[in-house]
Amino acid sequence: MEIIILILCAYLLGSIPSALWVGKLFYKTDVREHGSGNLGATNTFRVLGKAAGLVVTILDILKGTAAVLLPLLPVFAASEIHPLILGFCAVIGHIFPIFAGFKGGKAVATSGGVLLGYNWPIFIVVLLTFLLALKITKMVSLSSMIVAVVAFIYCIAYYVWSGDFSLMIIVGLMAIFIFYRHRANITRIKAGTEPKVKWL
Ligand code: G3P
Repeated sequence: MEIIILILCAYLLGSIPSALWVGKLFYKTDVREHGSGNLGATNTFRVLGKAAGLVVTILDILKGTAAVLLPLLPVFAASEIHPLILGFCAVIGHIFPIFAGFKGGKAVATSGGVLLGYNWPIFIVVLLTFLLALKITKMVSLSSMIVAVVAFIYCIAYYVWSGDFSLMIIVGLMAIFIFYRHRANITRIKAGTEPKVKWL
């Protein structure tokens, strides 16, 4: 029973549609009707500006982090579920949010948050890799997919070094979902019409 409650909590955490609620609450704007239409931090930056984009980035990251840390709550202390399973449930919640008609974001920030909660040094390395990719490509979507693959490679190396098999598997699954959610971006990248960030 405790495990089901934990899974539900993690999914509900991930389901919080930060981009939608920040947009509606503070800007009277539904970001789904503008830009790429995606309920994510990148589209929030695009549609509502840097302040809102930053807030949504942080909130989306924290959803993944909080889900991984749920078993630390005293009420769940006896639970034996692996924290990465909870992180993955938050990612599923972010992609298919119950609070936004099951049409959510592309899982990048929330997946990052899962890494942050579970292994912060790997998160830092992955974040730096993302920023480098963004500096070179100027495309958040392409950088996200590059970093999804690179993060998986880092986790293979980490598995060889530490024996942490579950991190490698969950990061691999998150990478698959990130690619699945970027199908429209891949089409635009191929057509040369994917928007580039101007502030880098
Ligand atoms: O994190 C989502 C990003 O990689 C792409 O977002 O709005 O450009 O499709 P968007």
